Amino acid sequence: MGHIGRSTFVKKANETTRLLLTTFIGVFFGFVIGVSFPVLSISKLSLSSDYLPLSEFIQVMDPSIPAQAKVQTNDKSKIWVPSNPRGAERLPPGIVVPESDLYPRRLYGKPSEDLTVIPKYLVTFTVGHKQMHNIDAAIKKFSGNFTVVLFHYDNRTSDWDAYEWSKKAIHISVQKQTKWWFAKRFLHPDIVAAYEYIFIWDEDLGVEHFESEEYIKLVKKHGLEISQPGLEPDAKALTWQMTKRRGDREVHKETEEKPGWCPDPHLPPCAGFVEIMAPVFSREAWRCVWYMIQSDLVHGWGLDFAVRKCIEPAHEKIGVVDAQWIVHQGIPSLGGQGESNDGKQPWQGVRQRCRSEWKMFQDRLANAEKEYYQLTGTSSST
Ligand SMILES: *[C@@H]1O[C@H](CO)[C@@H](O)[C@H](O)[C@H]1NC(C)=O
Ligand SMILES: *[C@@H]1O[C@H](CO)[C@@H](O)[C@H](O)[C@H]1NC(C)=O
Repeated sequence: MGHIGRSTFVKKANETTRLLLTTFIGVFFGFVIGVSFPVLSISKLSLSSDYLPLSEFIQVMDPSIPAQAKVQTNDKSKIWVPSNPRGAERLPPGIVVPESDLYPRRLYGKPSEDLTVIPKYLVTFTVGHKQMHNIDAAIKKFSGNFTVVLFHYDNRTSDWDAYEWSKKAIHISVQKQTKWWFAKRFLHPDIVAAYEYIFIWDEDLGVEHFESEEYIKLVKKHGLEISQPGLEPDAKALTWQMTKRRGDREVHKETEEKPGWCPDPHLPPCAGFVEIMAPVFSREAWRCVWYMIQSDLVHGWGLDFAVRKCIEPAHEKIGVVDAQWIVHQGIPSLGGQGESNDGKQPWQGVRQRCRSEWKMFQDRLANAEKEYYQLTGTSSST
């Protein structure tokens, strides 16, 4: 109803414009050239008119003129702002909103009064209902300054209604997808631009010794662009020395590994390195890392060795927060959600894909760099 009413109105308005235009042209040619009339009325008319000037109309009709040439015109009355985001060049910059946030809003009242707290940080967990109690405990460690996003991989979203906090959280549900699959699709840097820090966490983390606000304080104090909490040293799932918690300091940025593992002490896995299970990115770091995530490589293996490419100098701005630490419980959540074939267990197929993705990612990165250095005629540093 409202829509019909509006389009009728627009149509009427257009007819009025057409009438005005015809009248105007008549009046224009009737007058002796040189008679002064207000410049204002010309620009007003061309702005309010939906009609193309004749020369442009011919261009639009002529299929031999490429589309790009049709839209770009010297007509000063048409808006064309090359510095606008790609595709939005026809809009006046004042109306362009290139970035967004994940703040839920009310349906009524003044938009400016929708939010009582403006969340500054974002935390996401990729979850299945089996880890509900664990996530409930984790969420309690995140202050009101956080927007909470749950990525559900098992279609059991309504189970979470049991928790009061869940009503304010954002729930995104797609079956059997991984954290990095979700992150690539729903955490575009322009969408999460409102958040100073972005936590992209697994569901099997014990957070008894972790407080989010304290963590952020330390990250700021030590200038960490990419970080993770230290991991409980006794945990069975501990793979790297770098992420092992040190009892004697607030943060560490480098470590020693087994002999021969780190030819360069400033490079992973001895520095410039955190794991992919519980990373925390600054807004600027995430803006780069998101671009490095490959849409088809869903497990994210190898990403931890590569994120340093986004940070300069990586060995000073990537680190592990020891004073706020977590326990990695090593529960193979999505791991059990593969398909069994060739008589293999489902988790074996998943593990195999993780490994082959790691190799593919390394190859793509190496090739991309090679291509770049060939094109520019320079050689790589690291
Ligand atoms: C949110 O952040 C502000 C500013 O950093 C801080 O003063 C406040 O205590 C935080 N809120 C909570 C609930 O921790
Ligand atoms: C998702 O779960 C609901 C009940 O929890 C079920 O009715 C529905 O069929 C499920 N959807 C899919 C696509 O499996």
